[in-house]
Amino acid sequence: MKIAGKEYKTIWYEKNVVKIIDQTKLPHHFKITELKTVKDSINAIKEMKVRGAPLIGATAAYGIALAIQENNDLDFIKKSAEELIQSRPTAINLKWAVDRTMKNLSGINSDQLLNITLNEAKEICDEDEKFCENIGINGLKIVEEIYNKKKDTVNILTHCNAGWLATINWGTATSPIYHAHKKGIPVHIWVDETRPRNQGANLTSYELNEEEIPNTIIADNTGGILMQRGEVDMCIVGTDRTLFNGDVCNKIGTYLKALAAYDNNVPFYVALPSSTIDWDIKDAKNIPIEERNSEELSHIEGIDENNQIKKVLIYPNKSRAMNLAFDVTPAKYVTGLITERGICEASRDGLKKLFK
Ligand code: MRU
Repeated sequence: MKIAGKEYKTIWYEKNVVKIIDQTKLPHHFKITELKTVKDSINAIKEMKVRGAPLIGATAAYGIALAIQENNDLDFIKKSAEELIQSRPTAINLKWAVDRTMKNLSGINSDQLLNITLNEAKEICDEDEKFCENIGINGLKIVEEIYNKKKDTVNILTHCNAGWLATINWGTATSPIYHAHKKGIPVHIWVDETRPRNQGANLTSYELNEEEIPNTIIADNTGGILMQRGEVDMCIVGTDRTLFNGDVCNKIGTYLKALAAYDNNVPFYVALPSSTIDWDIKDAKNIPIEERNSEELSHIEGIDENNQIKKVLIYPNKSRAMNLAFDVTPAKYVTGLITERGICEASRDGLKKLFK
């Protein structure tokens, strides 16, 4: 998708380095950063220079290639793979991408390791892009249906950033929006600010602006009243881990939005590529929920009068704060899952019909 009129993807490999857009600097500064070592990849994931389930998976796959470039000893590669998986716990894509990449490496001549890994990482990216495009084509039907009934702008609420910046291109939750916009269907997006890191305000609103899609940032607590007033036609969010029974783990606050949607008969859709399905965990209680540094809550970042990013304390000095990064929305609150293979019920049967 576009930034300042130019098409970008979120990650690519060029001249022995991996290039990413540093998302900690957006929306104020656009900076392309180079990852040269596997440690760089691990830190980029931990510090959220890259974030969003599909993108951290792709970064981990390229991270293994960077490890091989440094040292193609299999023990070092395996240790690096483990560290990559541990870099953030909730999104299943990390483990999925690392396992997929590592599977190719046993019994391979050391001079082939790098090429094989680079090919796999590129394939993971290309596949994600195609899957996200298909999510858009499938989700477009829902937006179109609402528009055909309403004959007026479709108001869509989204939480966090499940946009193209969280994937390779298109995004998951935003792909139906981009497809609707390209087709000429008028859409307006309510963008949840998404405290504490403000992925909605800083990233979703930014990327929608760059594509000239009307959007309004709202405080995270505003969605409920907008739904009561009939100002939300549908919600679409992403997911970091979807269980086989349709329970959905996503950015903290998603659950509360789903409850409000349920109470107000607003359709609540979750968009996902199949790489975010966890077929193993049977009970949502066993999903590892990331707890991040409380400084992300107690401090806030913005730019000062000299265009420099600055961090300031906003809480009482002595207060404790707790920063859980994800929550789980039970399947019963999810109207449907929009996947690359079609739309299904958020249930074991629904998922099984699409993914045998
Ligand atoms: O903590 P983040 O910014 O990595 O969280 C991102 C989300 O919660 C997204 O909704 C999710 O990864 C889906 S991305 C297509």
